[in-house]
Amino acid sequence: MEKEIKISIRNLQKSFGKKQVLRGVDLDIRAGESLVVIGGSGTGKSVLIKCIQGLLTPDEGSIKIDGEETIGKNARHLRDLNARMGMLFQGGALFDSLSVWENVAFSLLENKKISRDKAKLEAVRVLRQVGLASDVADLSPSELSGGMQKRVGLARAVITRPEIILFDEPTTGLDPIMADVINDLIVESAKGLGATTLTITHDMASARKIADKVAMLYEGKIIWQGTVKEMDKTDNPYVCQFINGCAQGPIKMEF
Ligand SMILES: Nc1ncnc2c1ncn2[C@@H]1O[C@H](COP(=O)(O)OP(=O)(O)OP(=O)(O)O)[C@@H](O)[C@H]1O
Ligand SMILES: [Mg+2]
Repeated sequence: MEKEIKISIRNLQKSFGKKQVLRGVDLDIRAGESLVVIGGSGTGKSVLIKCIQGLLTPDEGSIKIDGEETIGKNARHLRDLNARMGMLFQGGALFDSLSVWENVAFSLLENKKISRDKAKLEAVRVLRQVGLASDVADLSPSELSGGMQKRVGLARAVITRPEIILFDEPTTGLDPIMADVINDLIVESAKGLGATTLTITHDMASARKIADKVAMLYEGKIIWQGTVKEMDKTDNPYVCQFINGCAQGPIKMEF
């Protein structure tokens, strides 16, 4: 039996000035499912994630989580919503002014419901889960390699045991082996939590490893979706061009 729908997006539209980025995105993600959205640079993948997080307000459309509309809600609702979501930002977005453990425990410290000592213990535990030794905890993020920073970002995304985790380009800029390590950690942590995940990537190796389902964003809409197996068999020319990385095909690059 198919699980209930956790995130339901309908007719999502977002423009910046004259530039229509999202032109009516429809997407459903079932509970516990890992959906990967693929699409070229600048197609609006990060904008889509920011709309789900409530960081950007869409012009039109609906985003329901557990059947409840999230658009147009007040700040308190948004805070409650964000407490249920973990996020790994494109580029890490770690604070260099804070130590690694303070970054990881950021939301715990912010809520002030637990002491700094307890928050640090929890941060060190989650850091260990993503393969980082406890001596990393007191370093500054700027002292870490890109791969280690991604791990710290992942630890920060899962520390609150969120129901939903959003990953924006989790493997960009990593060598293929480190990327695969991060993919494994993403699958492991999401499955461990039973979380529903939305991952955005143009790394097809990553998409194949992480995805239960794949959706392709093109010209502001989801133009195709299916399982990885279906993706490999599809004759959709946009999907074929994208997954094979061909310059020739219907997708034209905008310069
Ligand atoms: N806050 C903003 N103000 C104005 N334009 C924006 C804003 N955020 C995004 N855009 C525009 O929206 C478009 C889509 O941006 P977005 O960051 O979502 O792309 P993307 O698909 O994530 O690309 P990439 O794969 O390179 O990360 C771009 O043209 C970008 O310039
Ligand atoms: Mg992006």
